Order: sequence, then structure tokens, then C-alpha cells
Amino acid sequence: MNNERVKLLLNNYQTPMYVFDTSILRQRVNYLKNCLPDNVSLCYAVKANTFIMKELSDIIDRFEVCSPGELSICRELDMPMEKIIFSGVYKTPSVIKELTEAGILIGIYSVESMLQYKLIVEASKRANLKVNIMPRLTSGNQFGMTEDEVKEVIRESKANNLLNVCGIQFFSGTQKTSMKKQRRELEYVDGFLQTLKEELSYTPDELEFGPGFPVSYFQGEEFDEDEYMKEFTKLLSEMNFQSKITLELGRSIAASCGTYLTRVVDMKNNKGQNYAIVDGGINQLVYFGQSMAMKHPICSVYPERADIGNATDENIVNWNICGSLCTVNDIIVKQLPIQDLKIDDVLVFENTGAYCMTEGISLFLSRDLPTVVLVDKNRELRAIRKLAPTYPLNKPSYE
Ligand SMILES: Cc1ncc(COP(=O)(O)O)c(C=O)c1O
Repeated sequence: MNNERVKLLLNNYQTPMYVFDTSILRQRVNYLKNCLPDNVSLCYAVKANTFIMKELSDIIDRFEVCSPGELSICRELDMPMEKIIFSGVYKTPSVIKELTEAGILIGIYSVESMLQYKLIVEASKRANLKVNIMPRLTSGNQFGMTEDEVKEVIRESKANNLLNVCGIQFFSGTQKTSMKKQRRELEYVDGFLQTLKEELSYTPDELEFGPGFPVSYFQGEEFDEDEYMKEFTKLLSEMNFQSKITLELGRSIAASCGTYLTRVVDMKNNKGQNYAIVDGGINQLVYFGQSMAMKHPICSVYPERADIGNATDENIVNWNICGSLCTVNDIIVKQLPIQDLKIDDVLVFENTGAYCMTEGISLFLSRDLPTVVLVDKNRELRAIRKLAPTYPLNKPSYE
């Protein structure tokens, strides 16, 4: 983010703050679409960031929601329900009942277990509502079902005219830098789809696959994304399955549009270590793969140091950047070299548009949630959430 924009943001809004730039978001979606073959469409995993969904609604084909809460956000934002895949390991009976009885046509329900399957079967029968389902094939954890269970769902659904098994879902993990792993998993899923054809004469219309495309967060960990996308596309072209593929993505779509700004509010040296206390913290900023705050995220200091070319060992000092929580774990970065750090300087953390905000332990210590500002397509700033107090959620009620 350039200094002019940081200045404008700081003049208008309070730190700590997240800023999501919709132009960068659109460019990002275009980049991914341009890299991928024509039979591939994109599904946005809204868990990565629920604040940018509206901006994606006309450029993304599908939205994966994983909880009743996420679904409520989509409903309140008037997102088209037919574009939603209602996924997640536990869809509560009450929400399935409510949706089917109200005749709300959710695009697809993923099926994560035989029990969840039965709930969907019963709800669709009670409401006499036809539903699309996608059994999720497990990758070897608590999510999804075994191959045999997926087959059972397909067999049973054939005899049920209220159910349409429109595809198979598979997701195994995030930040997958290894193309070998991508190959192994695509080959595995492709093989399974072949088995379905041979054993059940069933070929799904679609495969919904979570590739877990990686994002660079730390200095020195950049990778050649063009090359990565080329190799991934080649793997897709080598599959037997050549029908529609939907890639479920969160991190890779959302990360680059986000910036987190937090202000230095105190500085001290305790027993030889420099500590800069910022007004944010790990309740608001979480990095995937940040091993004990040892890695240095892609970040800068505002105001920019004018004499950066003349920086010397004396004025560059290593700082432990700590948040405002009362826990020794609240360290965002350890030993970050900064020139002439002062109180009121602002640290600007880039690539923080996915999960960084949502995965924080937001309710711990009842501190406020950060401001959220959107940079719209006309480059105007708009606060879409003010600093939000969390203390009411941690307060008992005796009424
Ligand atoms: C089922 C499912 N699909 C897609 C995603 C998005 O993954 P990523 O953010 O790595 O793209 C997740 C993330 O946890 C997921 O659980």
C-alpha cells in the first residue's frame, strides 16, 4: 500500500484497522481465471473473509459457507442462495429444517457423514423439496466420508427423486506449496471418479476440489506463482475427468487485497530486549505458518524513513512487536529490524486479507475488534465496520 493511501486512511480512521482493496481483489480473481482452463470455475470459501463477499458476487461462480452463522451473513447481504454450497462438518438439524421448510433453494448441500445425509434426506422429504447434494470424500481426517460411504450415498440417492448428486467434493488442506502433493491428490480423486463410473455407472457433472493454493506471507518466501499455476493447469489437463471442475479457494483469492495497520503505543527495553507495544495484537492478526513469531511478515513502517539509504547499524534496531493482550504469547513478530522506531509510528502488514483477521482469538480479554475499511472501485474509502466492542459478548446476563 502506498504512503499516500496510508496517510489518508490514518487521517480518517482509527487503528487498529483492516483495509480491503476491491481493485486488487478483482485483479486477483482475473489473474486466477486467466491462468486456469475453461472448464474450471471458482468458488470462494467465505471463511477466509466475510467482508469482501459482496464485492465478489458478480465475478465468482459459487460461495462455500461452512456454518449457520456464515449462512446468516450471506442471507442478510442478499447473496443469491443458488450460488451457495452449504458445506461444513456439522450442519445443524435446525438450520437444514428451517431452510427446506421455508423452500429456500440452496445451490448445493455438501454431505459430510451418513448421519448428515439422513438429515438432508428427511428434510427434503418433509418439505417435498428437490435438493442438490455433493458427498465430500475424506482426505483422511474428520471431514467427509470414506469411499464406501460416498458410494452408498450415490446408490441410495439414485432411488430418491428428491436428491440430485451433482458432484463430488474434496479438500485436503491449505498452503500447498508442493506440486507433488497436488499431483498425488488429483490422481487419487481422478481414480476414485473412474471407480464410480465402473462400479456404479455414475459420472458426476462436477468435481469441486480445494487445491489450497499457497500465498507468500513472509520475507524471503516468495514463489513463482506463474510457474506454479502452469504446472497445476497441466495436472488438470492430464486427468481422465474433463467435465466441470470448481476450485474452492479462500486464501489465494483474498489474501492480497488486505492490509492491517496497527500503531506503536509504547516502547521499552526489558532485560536487554526491545519491545514495541502496538494497539492491535494476535487477537486481530494471525499468520498461517508463523512459527512462534520468528518469521518476518511482508510489512513496512509508516511514516516511511526518509534516509533509509543511510541506515546504519546504530539506528536500525531489532524490535519485538507485541500486541495489547495481557499474555506473553501476544507477539506478532520477533526481532524485526526497524530504523528509528517511534511512538505513533504505524506498522503496515500486507497480504492480510485472508484468515488473518478471522482466525484471531477475538474475544480474549474483551478488547475491541478492528475497524474495517473498504477501498471501492472508485478508490473511495468506506468504513464497513467501526471498531466493535467485544465485552458485551463476554458479559454474563442475569436477566
Ligand atoms: C472445505 C474447504 N474448502 C476450501 C477451503 C479454502 O482453503 P484455502 O483458503 O486454502 O484456499 C477450506 C479452508 O479451510 C475448506 O475447509
